[in-house]
Amino acid sequence: MDICKIFVVICFATGLHCNPLFPYDLVDLTRNLGPDSLYYPTLAGYEKVIELKGSKKYGHWVYSNVLQMTEHVGTHMDAPSHFNKVGWNMHQIPINKMVGPGVIVNVKEKARNNPDYRISINDIKEWEEKYGKIPDGAMLIMNSGWDAKYPDKNSVYGTKNISDLSSFHHPGWHEDTISWIISNRHILFIGTDAPSFDYGQSTTFPVHILTSRENISGLENVANLDRIPPSGSIISAAGMKTVEGSGGPLRLYAMVPNSGANNSTVIIGTSNVLLIVIGLTLLTKLQD
Ligand SMILES: *[C@@H]1O[C@H](CO)[C@@H](O)[C@H](O)[C@H]1NC(C)=O
Ligand SMILES: *[C@@H]1O[C@H](CO)[C@@H](O)[C@H](O)[C@H]1NC(C)=O
Ligand SMILES: *[C@@H]1O[C@H](CO)[C@@H](O)[C@H](O)[C@H]1NC(C)=O
Ligand SMILES: *[C@@H]1O[C@H](CO)[C@@H](O)[C@H](O)[C@H]1NC(C)=O
Ligand SMILES: [Zn+2]
Repeated sequence: MDICKIFVVICFATGLHCNPLFPYDLVDLTRNLGPDSLYYPTLAGYEKVIELKGSKKYGHWVYSNVLQMTEHVGTHMDAPSHFNKVGWNMHQIPINKMVGPGVIVNVKEKARNNPDYRISINDIKEWEEKYGKIPDGAMLIMNSGWDAKYPDKNSVYGTKNISDLSSFHHPGWHEDTISWIISNRHILFIGTDAPSFDYGQSTTFPVHILTSRENISGLENVANLDRIPPSGSIISAAGMKTVEGSGGPLRLYAMVPNSGANNSTVIIGTSNVLLIVIGLTLLTKLQD
């Protein structure tokens, strides 16, 4: 009987969260994609047309829709081609440039008092003092607390008039910080829980331009950052492989190592022992 199966039985019987083959908790960093999803007001919002729904046509249930929307809606990624004519389009981004260690920079306190806050080099140095040097291939994401404002677009964009682009106030990354990161560290993605990683008052989008030039992709409207640690997760941002795509909504998630990763201490009660015995007996019987 192989040791792996025994371990699985023990895990199951003790209710432990310790699948040795996949010792991670998955955290969804994605918002629902639908009519309420946010997008820059000059672009096109989410539209769904039902193309087939019901049992009449084929004699059994069939359901499908046609979707139309900007690529930059809801929790989405920006391909480098969004701000760089020769940058990668969605279908060109290699898969090993779409998954990497999560580095979450928390500036909630600063952004609470100042919606125009931009992450400084000092914020990065503080993060590194606590958690070590930003790892190569990092997914570098701002947690500004903007998550809590969704889905109210006026409070997310920090404005009374969503049609007035010059009235937007939300935090972002400072271009000097990004220049420093590009020269001194190696990241795959730049991200934010706000609608753009350039702050709301930006009219020139320097962070988009600087990162796109390096083929660094982007993430916007990221959700649930409070549920992952500042360091130690793995984030998957494997977006749609659309030909000539400039970005797109995606199912963004983090893998957070759980105690199954390196903890073999198991607290076992009588009922657990019983379950283990039953499990192992069944396993033996099945193999006979
Ligand atoms: C909102 O902003 C738009 C664009 O600047 C402007 O045309 C419109 O009059 C504004 N609406 C209000 C209520 O101020
Ligand atoms: C970005 O990707 C494009 C397309 O593959 C390539 O031509 C360009 O050299 C890349 N730029 C950088 C800085 O890697
Ligand atoms: C695994 O063990 C290392 C070293 O003791 C520790 O730093 C880390 O936090 C542990 N990870 C988990 C998920 O318990
Ligand atoms: C290992 O798991 C036990 C039981 O769940 C727990 O009491 C202990 O603190 C854990 N140790 C580590 C290093 O995570
Ligand atoms: Zn975008």
